[in-house]
Amino acid sequence: MEYVKFKNADVIVNNSDYLVKNPINYKNKWKELFGNNNKINLELGMGRGDFIINMAKAYPNINFIGLELNINQMVGAVQKLMKEKLPNLKLINADASEIDKIFGKEIDTIYLTFSEPWPKKRDERKRFTHESYLKLYDKIFKKDKHIILKTDNKGLFAYSLESLSQYWYVFDRISLDLHNNEIPIPNIMTDFEKKYYEEKRPIYYLEASFKN
Ligand SMILES: C[S@@+](CC[C@H](N)C(=O)[O-])C[C@H]1O[C@@H](n2cnc3c(N)ncnc32)[C@H](O)[C@@H]1O
Repeated sequence: MEYVKFKNADVIVNNSDYLVKNPINYKNKWKELFGNNNKINLELGMGRGDFIINMAKAYPNINFIGLELNINQMVGAVQKLMKEKLPNLKLINADASEIDKIFGKEIDTIYLTFSEPWPKKRDERKRFTHESYLKLYDKIFKKDKHIILKTDNKGLFAYSLESLSQYWYVFDRISLDLHNNEIPIPNIMTDFEKKYYEEKRPIYYLEASFKN
């Protein structure tokens, strides 16, 4: 996917107090960094950050981390945060495939929001619900596993249902049209979701867990 390129994107992002530089230094120490024992929830591929920022505002007693690979995308999040004071939010510029280097068993919930669908079979391993990623998540979940996934992509959704169930996850909630659900599901929209919502495209949603 092509994104807008910013001049000095790395300077803008590196100047943000929300950015955790050298996140591997905080492996097993995220509690100390946040200064409390609250839950720590992680979004993989946060993009321009609307979801994780608004989650941090809505739930001040939960800690949130937004991880994003693309520095240009991160500029959007950093700019939105310029006038905000959210002690329960941190941002990381890293590849999701490296999360086991950044976290020990510290994470309560992982959000997979409008992740790249990687439709070609040869790219299957890059899907955030491929077994290799599920194994990676096992290394960072504190105790019970808990994944919340939202996507507009039917193929990725179907794949994720199969992959998660084969990995013994149980589905706590599933919706094939999140915004027109008979029983409303509490929801904060991502940047991509807002666009798709306006286009009236159905959003697929699942919440999966595994109790240890
Ligand atoms: C389609 S966008 C969705 C952004 C945001 N979650 C939203 O819903 O608005 C997918 C995002 O995932 C990021 N991404 C893709 N692969 C990644 C990886 N391996 N590690 C971290 N971020 C990744 C992309 O750079 C992009 O910002």
